[in-house]
Amino acid sequence: MPSSEKLIAAFNEQIGRELGASHLYVSIATHFDSEALPRLSSFFYRQGEEEREHAMRFVKFIMDVGGRVRIPAVQAPQHDFAGGEAAVAKALESEQAVSRSIFDLARLADEERDLFARRFLDWFIDEQREEEATMSALLQVVQRAKGPSGLLQVEEYLSHRGAGPIESQAGPGGPEGA
Ligand SMILES: [Fe+2]
Ligand SMILES: [Fe+2]
Repeated sequence: MPSSEKLIAAFNEQIGRELGASHLYVSIATHFDSEALPRLSSFFYRQGEEEREHAMRFVKFIMDVGGRVRIPAVQAPQHDFAGGEAAVAKALESEQAVSRSIFDLARLADEERDLFARRFLDWFIDEQREEEATMSALLQVVQRAKGPSGLLQVEEYLSHRGAGPIESQAGPGGPEGA
């Protein structure tokens, strides 16, 4: 069953949001990179790559159902951050906005009775729960880590999480295991 034009258009918009999130994360990564904080920067560089992969999932879905991919203009990300806390808070805010847009897409898929789209979006709903949880945990740690060496404690925190907080994706019940 082909997806409706309306749904394809909404999915194309989402490609723009995922790419926007990717650019924001690269921007945040460079903030930490320039502060010589390697774990924080690599965490965000990887997040940037993941968001691009999310965009590509939408590209593939549109191709699979015979729609046309039309990548929209992507807004420039924020470049300057008042500090580490502001950068991570921005990341959490962005994830929450992406969650809302995924929920809107799921409602649209329901309205259109498009079960291919609806099932496809389940992965993203799980992913957003994980991403919001990871990002709010990181924000908590950053807020707790005060003083000149505060962010070094955050580096330590990330090192104890093995490959990085993104590991949460590979954890039991995570989207990767789905
Ligand atoms: Fe995403
Ligand atoms: Fe995300």
